[in-house]
Amino acid sequence: MVLKAPKKIKIEDEEISRKYKIIAENLHKTYLLGKTAVAALRGVDVQIKEAEFIGLYGPSGSGKTTLLNLIGGLDYPTRGKIFLDGINMAKLDDNELADLRRDHIGYVFQFYNLLPLLTALENVMIPLHFQAKLSKRGKARKAMELLRLVKLDERANHTPSELSGGEQQRVAIARAFANDPSIVILDEPTGDLDSKTGIEILNLLRDLNRKGATFVTATHDGAVSEYCSRVLHLMDGKIVTGSKAEGLKETPQQRKTRLEHQQTNRQLVEEKILKTIEGKDQISIERLRAGIPSELMEHLPIHFDDIIQELIDNEKIKGELDKGVLFIQKEG
Ligand SMILES: Nc1ncnc2c1ncn2[C@@H]1O[C@H](COP(=O)(O)OP(=O)(O)O)[C@@H](O)[C@H]1O
Ligand SMILES: [Mg+2]
Repeated sequence: MVLKAPKKIKIEDEEISRKYKIIAENLHKTYLLGKTAVAALRGVDVQIKEAEFIGLYGPSGSGKTTLLNLIGGLDYPTRGKIFLDGINMAKLDDNELADLRRDHIGYVFQFYNLLPLLTALENVMIPLHFQAKLSKRGKARKAMELLRLVKLDERANHTPSELSGGEQQRVAIARAFANDPSIVILDEPTGDLDSKTGIEILNLLRDLNRKGATFVTATHDGAVSEYCSRVLHLMDGKIVTGSKAEGLKETPQQRKTRLEHQQTNRQLVEEKILKTIEGKDQISIERLRAGIPSELMEHLPIHFDDIIQELIDNEKIKGELDKGVLFIQKEG
């Protein structure tokens, strides 16, 4: 679906609008860290057509999230142009960009970002609250259809803690479609899932893509390329092709470093969990997860919930997990 530009927003080039969903021209993004400039994107050109499923693939720090955020109108480029359906997003002010995000772009993140007190159905309904035309019943009906699309209608009345990671991500995908988006961006959508569940999510995305959805997903998971229609390789803030892209494949030495890094993170996470539960008799996984820095969470060797389960199995935690809550036995 090609979006209709909001009244105030001018389509600069109808031609572009008809031909491409996204056009990025010489895109640069530099972050300022105190007095240091970090060049996260250094001249990126991208063209994305309707119904493509683009994978942004590259090592950590290569600029995937930065590029995705620009495509999704979540940030402004330092230099260059970025068009969505012919609209130059770099030229919109904060409010116009916010309207564009709300009405025309879908988002899926690594950690689902569902509201914990709402049911699956209510979470999917959130973006629908901005659609004045729909009655309350109409909104519920539409949310239910979206849950059916991701094969989760039978769990509509469950809250996130009653759902597995893969199911929560499906709710997030349904929610991303609530505003009939022109494009859906996904940042490491399988990053927190075990590989089997990750593949289920990728299969779902492929199905939705075949029905016409346009996706751009950032990933450092090599498996994703089998599901995308096209992969863009990012390295040091640039898109690379040919042998350079080949070179992005992990070398044995890089693999060793990565596994060591993940192992260290796991230890830090375990320490943090044990410290957080001290003196408590119960705590939700959600709360535990929220207390852990995202840099650690993004690079773990196994799923976070499995780390807790293994701590229980090895009796480092005396307690049990039930429906997303950890119940801890009192000593003595
Ligand atoms: N808000 C920020 N402030 C400063 N530097 C940032 C910020 N976000 C990202 N960076 C830096 O920009 C580079 C690209 O980051 P990012 O786009 O997150 O890469 P990726 O998603 O591929 O891991 C990295 O060097 C990162 O440290
Ligand atoms: Mg990232």
